[in-house]
Amino acid sequence: MEHLVKMLEDEIRKFRFESKPRSLYDPIHYIMTLGGKRLRPMLTLMTTELYGRNPGDFVKYAVAVEAFHNFTLMHDDIMDQAPLRRGKPTVHMKWNVNTAILSGDVLLVKVYNQFLGLPETQRTEVLSLFNMCATRVCEGQQWDMEFETAKTVTESQYLQMIELKTAVLLGFSLELGGILADAPAKDRVILRSIGTNMGIAFQLKDDLLDVYGDKKKFGKQQGGDILSNKRTFLLVKALRQAKGKHASELKKWLSRKTFDKRKKIKAVTTLYDELSIREHTEKKINHYLELAGKEINQLTLKEGAKGLKTFLLELAKRQK
Ligand code: IPE
Ligand code: IPE
Ligand code: MG
Ligand code: MG
Ligand code: MG
Repeated sequence: MEHLVKMLEDEIRKFRFESKPRSLYDPIHYIMTLGGKRLRPMLTLMTTELYGRNPGDFVKYAVAVEAFHNFTLMHDDIMDQAPLRRGKPTVHMKWNVNTAILSGDVLLVKVYNQFLGLPETQRTEVLSLFNMCATRVCEGQQWDMEFETAKTVTESQYLQMIELKTAVLLGFSLELGGILADAPAKDRVILRSIGTNMGIAFQLKDDLLDVYGDKKKFGKQQGGDILSNKRTFLLVKALRQAKGKHASELKKWLSRKTFDKRKKIKAVTTLYDELSIREHTEKKINHYLELAGKEINQLTLKEGAKGLKTFLLELAKRQK
């Protein structure tokens, strides 16, 4: 795995734009080199390797996937009014909102530029899958924002929302690896589904870490989701489970327009504790990881699939 990380980081360092104005391009370099986990491009490269190909031939497209992810983060941080990303100020805080919008836009264009390098036999297929994926991410992001003020959000609506905003991109990352490596058509479909289930588990864990993560490791503002009434799995579940005093206390915090941030985070976390929300969320995470694990067994790969299994276990344990 280490050789893939190195390959990827080397290529990401080369992903720089020398044009002017610098204030448009500097934020791209800034966010891309802040040190993310590189989960999505690693999934792409790992898959090409599993199918017996040289991942070095595809690293440019893995960078495209990471660049798209970073574009979504730039805009997501504006939408979520997030001050911190990967332990550093977000682009709209370090520069300003307009810069973060436009830098994000041009970053998305650069993603298309990367994919233009694909061989003609793969270009149309990859671009049409990518377009579908990018559209779904936007749909998911819009649902996510609408849900903040929606009257009720069911668990199933929540799961659909995170499938769109987060999981489809993991699905695309794996499927892309399959396409690049000429994997059997049957496997490509399974790869996408593995990514989707992995992605749902991943977003559930992200919701959990937002409340219960170790501040130093997590790199984002802790309790940010609580402050914005984000309909995370934790909140959806708590609203469903809470009765009597718990229910009125939770509703009170959700409806307050002005509040002491620390007090709100503390009060809502205490409610989550009392309602065992952490355990409910962990159960759900394991459910989706198990689904992904079973699908890995269905791939035509035999020994190679172990790599994906190890990756899955790492995801389950992640602290950031
Ligand atoms: C953050 O993604 C956005 C979500 C979909 C939860 P990551 O947790 O992969 O962020 P980085 O790239 O490692 O910083
Ligand atoms: C992010 O969801 C999904 C996308 C960026 C598309 P979150 O808003 O939970 O991600 P973080 O917590 O800011 O990384
Ligand atoms: Mg968000
Ligand atoms: Mg966010
Ligand atoms: Mg989050």
